Amino acid sequence: MKKDVLRMGDARLLRRAEEVHSFDTPELHALLADMRATMQALEGVGLAAPQIGVNQRVVIFGVLHNPRYPDAEPVPETVLLNPVITPLSSDTEEDWEGCLSLPGLRGLVPRFKTIRYQGCDEYGALIDRTVSGFHARVVQHECDHLDGILYPMRIRDLRQFGFSEVLFPDSNVPEE
Ligand code: NI
Repeated sequence: MKKDVLRMGDARLLRRAEEVHSFDTPELHALLADMRATMQALEGVGLAAPQIGVNQRVVIFGVLHNPRYPDAEPVPETVLLNPVITPLSSDTEEDWEGCLSLPGLRGLVPRFKTIRYQGCDEYGALIDRTVSGFHARVVQHECDHLDGILYPMRIRDLRQFGFSEVLFPDSNVPEE
């Protein structure tokens, strides 16, 4: 069922979320169903459980071909629990991000270009991927939510932060 997404200013977005210890449970499957329904209804590319008020280390993300975002490279539909991110170099790059917790806004955010991420899926199966570019950006954005970090906290120049329809009158940048 689609849930309301908490918006920036809500203290529940600022907590460190708790590790998941039980896999393949009805509660976890129900949480994931709610997260998928919410993300799809809002056409997001990712969502973290704290954004719907559930303080667990659970994120989902994925972009298959989406006509709204023709430039976005495909990212596999993924359920990721208890993620650990390791940057594989100190190289960063800046790009525009949005967030379902800050509707209508976009900011230019530095992220590591290439990362390894590890964790597991809802059945406890290990996930271990090395990714770069947009995929790496989405993972870093979603996992930040598990540590109470919203993307404006990472913007270096707040002049590069504003309303999407003003910044990009002719196009869409995905919300994560
Ligand atoms: Ni977000």
